Amino acid sequence: MGIQIKKVGILTGGGDCPGLNSVLYGIMLKAYDAGIECVGILKGWKGFMENLTIPLDIAEHDDLHTVGGTILYTSRTNPFKGVESKEEKARQLTKKFDELGIDALITIGGDDTLGVADSLYKFGNAKVVGVPKTIDNDIAGTHYTFGFWSAVQLASNTLDNLTTTAHSHQRVFVVEVMGRDAGFLTMYSGISAGADIILIPETPFDLEKDIIDVLKKRVDAGYKYHIIATSEGAYPKLESLNRDFKTISKETIDKLPKDTYGNPLLAKLGMSRIIVDELNLRDDLKEEFQKNDIDFECRSVVLGHTMRAGTPNSFDRILGLRFGLAAMKLVLNGEFGNMVSLQGNKIKTVPLSEGVKKKYITPENDKMELRDLLVKIRYLSKQK
Ligand code: F6P
Repeated sequence: MGIQIKKVGILTGGGDCPGLNSVLYGIMLKAYDAGIECVGILKGWKGFMENLTIPLDIAEHDDLHTVGGTILYTSRTNPFKGVESKEEKARQLTKKFDELGIDALITIGGDDTLGVADSLYKFGNAKVVGVPKTIDNDIAGTHYTFGFWSAVQLASNTLDNLTTTAHSHQRVFVVEVMGRDAGFLTMYSGISAGADIILIPETPFDLEKDIIDVLKKRVDAGYKYHIIATSEGAYPKLESLNRDFKTISKETIDKLPKDTYGNPLLAKLGMSRIIVDELNLRDDLKEEFQKNDIDFECRSVVLGHTMRAGTPNSFDRILGLRFGLAAMKLVLNGEFGNMVSLQGNKIKTVPLSEGVKKKYITPENDKMELRDLLVKIRYLSKQK
């Protein structure tokens, strides 16, 4: 049974992501058709708490689905930060619906933003639904988040492009890819561009075996340049950290600062630079390169926010529109406490509490085997 909804609030939280505006436009299309007014809540949960809103008139936003970023702005504000009782805070926050003049709320965000939405639903019985967003693709309830494939394409293009300069200088490039503690972005862009070594958080690496040995074998097999794709959150195995690393220790990793949701700020570690520093200390590696008439030279490149920049690709525009349409339908049908999700090629509904769980690349994922073959078979097949 539907319920009477006249005005719906929409907010975008967490890191921005190509396709946010596409979701917004999908919501606005359906809302207009159903005679419902849309209100934009600015800067994620910050704007929700501080009553920062703008009217969203679809007539003023033709083709919004093609535009990158979010016209609602975003923030990583966590309304539960420092509060004693999450339940009490959630009940208080739900009262904001009246102040904001909204009958329902659509939250578009990653596990953190949607986790807050879930608490509002659970403890405050708020009329809230969610749309999963992140370039990292690490949300369990959906096969893909919008924004992921745009970011993969950008990273893959850069990895491709770097090969020309790597080739010209006969260099090693260590390229750092976003994704926090999940390896989807690095794995997919690395495989797509044919990176020579791919390091992801899900499979902690051994400096000696996974990097130095591979580089030696590659240079002996005749390769003159090498591209290493590393997740910003790729960690060495503890054994390798203690045995091989001269520039960092376990404390360096443990002492990383955290964001307002308590996630370690992995980019602060600078894994690509650490790998370069470690490789530069290895005389045996330099000698192996010299034996093959190559001066060992290694550079790091951090892709950083270039991966979230620009317009969404066609896949993300369409997925964003579909998610927006489906989210508005959840509101119309009174199916609160849920989020939209992509399962195969179908848009489905899952409870927020289930959907927001984190997802990682698992051992049975065929990309694991592909990566390992891609790295190994190229040098093995050319060994002298
Ligand atoms: O979660 C998305 C993401 O882009 C991560 O890949 C990255 O670690 C983080 O956000 C960067 O956050 P910020 O924009 O706050 O620097």
